Amino acid sequence: MRTAGNLWTRKHLLGMAGLSKEEIATLLDTAVSLREVNRREIKKVPTLRGKTIINLFFENSTRTRTSFELAGKRMSADVINMSVASSSVQKGETLLDTLANLQAMNPDVVVMRHPESGVLQFLANHLNTALVNAGDGRHEHPTQGLLDILTIQDHLPLLERDSFSGLVVAICGDVLHSRVARSNALGLKSLGAEVRFVGPSTLMPNQAEEAFGVTVHHRLEEGLAGAHVVMMLRLQNERMNSPYLPSVREYAEFWGLTRNRLRLADPKAIVMHPGPINRGVEISSEVVDDPDRSVILEQVANGLAVRMAVLYLLCGSGVRR
Ligand code: CP
Repeated sequence: MRTAGNLWTRKHLLGMAGLSKEEIATLLDTAVSLREVNRREIKKVPTLRGKTIINLFFENSTRTRTSFELAGKRMSADVINMSVASSSVQKGETLLDTLANLQAMNPDVVVMRHPESGVLQFLANHLNTALVNAGDGRHEHPTQGLLDILTIQDHLPLLERDSFSGLVVAICGDVLHSRVARSNALGLKSLGAEVRFVGPSTLMPNQAEEAFGVTVHHRLEEGLAGAHVVMMLRLQNERMNSPYLPSVREYAEFWGLTRNRLRLADPKAIVMHPGPINRGVEISSEVVDDPDRSVILEQVANGLAVRMAVLYLLCGSGVRR
């Protein structure tokens, strides 16, 4: 573990943007070495004893919040889950003041999810505490990108590949509002994968090709053709302030992943989804529940290991910063 720690010098994890291949490898190697803890009968190690982690979620979450809490607890850290609904933000305190007050209690890491894109970078410019971005608006969700990359890495032998180079990953659906798509595209491109953004033109970021080095496809069938990895995205209705689609039923008909459409991908292609899934909208139940194709719950298990790795590395792990 010391070796991995020595390769990690960042104070925060704000995004996949700017992470080198070596830094991604350090995070993934650390996650792989920690994930066996989650398979033990006694799932606890003393690694972060005496460390304090605060989880602060301004948006709903099942997977990310639970796994950050479990990650801290399985490594013996003290974990505080702050309820935003009962915090003094509701009384008009600014976000920066709230964080400055939490910092005064000397936590080791603050994990935060917030609906505003870029807010973690703003806070990092004003605070000393280590920050982890657990999703900021439509900007980034780096631990989701890392857990997805770890899940793909696990499946490279089955996909008969020895690296990410040339691997075709189709990220399909509401790309415009997706921080998951952004973090994955940044990480996967840096590892040498070929990334496709696949979705209706109303749900595609402007100039995606130039910004992310991806190819853009406006027909699902075209985007799926020969893909090794099919990553489906939920319609992020909570980020839509006007209608982007004629109807959900029509979206499901043209953009939903069915077993028939999946036949267009590589015969061994794996299917991913960050969750929460909307069965029958962006993905059919027959695909979600297909044990030969769906790796959706493996993503969740890897999420716990990746978050353990992130907390471990940001809590210092004996490295001087
Ligand atoms: N994938 C993801 O971030 O899930 P949650 O919103 O449940 O955390």
